[in-house]
Amino acid sequence: MNILSINNQKGGVGKTTVSVNMAITFAQAGYRVLVVDNDKQGNATTFFGVKILDDTMTLADLYTDDNMTVADVVQHTHYEHLDILPSDLNLKAAELALPQPDVAWQTILRQKLMVTDYDICLIDNPPDASALVMNSLTCCNTALVIVGPDEFSINGVKTIRKLMDAAAAYNPALHGMAIFNKYKPAGGVAQSLYAQRIQEIMPVLPVSLRNSNPGRHDRINFVERAMNDGKAVFEVSPGCGFARDFVNVMNALMEG
Ligand SMILES: Nc1ncnc2c1ncn2[C@@H]1O[C@H](COP(=O)(O)OP(=O)(O)OP(=O)(O)O)[C@@H](O)[C@H]1O
Ligand SMILES: [Mg+2]
Repeated sequence: MNILSINNQKGGVGKTTVSVNMAITFAQAGYRVLVVDNDKQGNATTFFGVKILDDTMTLADLYTDDNMTVADVVQHTHYEHLDILPSDLNLKAAELALPQPDVAWQTILRQKLMVTDYDICLIDNPPDASALVMNSLTCCNTALVIVGPDEFSINGVKTIRKLMDAAAAYNPALHGMAIFNKYKPAGGVAQSLYAQRIQEIMPVLPVSLRNSNPGRHDRINFVERAMNDGKAVFEVSPGCGFARDFVNVMNALMEG
């Protein structure tokens, strides 16, 4: 199973947007896909329309109960081949309970995922450097770090880099790849300088995801509209710039 961890300690850069669009793209290509909603905000869970009731098992149970398996927690989505380990605010308590002396808390998620039968697993992470993010980095093949053209985003990459170095003790093959999101085609020199500085921290994918702008008669952009509707951007507007960029990003990732 190929595990991709979608990161940046900076909020709002597009981690969930990239995670869910990738998940749907892979599922529609016939892969069996598991999304891990590793964020107590539960945005990926809400996106896929998964409801958490009082007796619903969530990712928090998987982290905290030794006997709980992925099969106990997983929910099917309305997309074929696409399942999710859902989350809500209860994940906060699990996050705080995790770091314990003399316990391999860093690799709990890895142990649980090891025995599953998916082709691809995408982990949507919170905007922090918590024990949960550490768990995602010890089990993934690749950390995809979503970056925007701004200083805070670069700080976020630096933080994830440090966490990756710590995770490498458990996961020596771990490597990172930055993907530029909200790229402004007329961003000029400042934007190129940001890309260069990120390149000094980790490789940057040579293709980027542009900032989607609302059409002339629209109130919101295509990315936001698709996210609100629980659909991939290419399902809402296959011809828009972001959807076309996304195809290029997926191709570049598959080639790499
Ligand atoms: N390329 C883009 N163009 C325009 N809007 C975008 C783009 N990418 C993401 N967005 C919008 O930016 C907002 C934040 O995106 P998203 O929720 O995916 O970020 P995030 O990194 O997951 O945030 P958090 O850190 O809170 O989890 C959303 O409203 C989304 O629709
Ligand atoms: Mg998110």
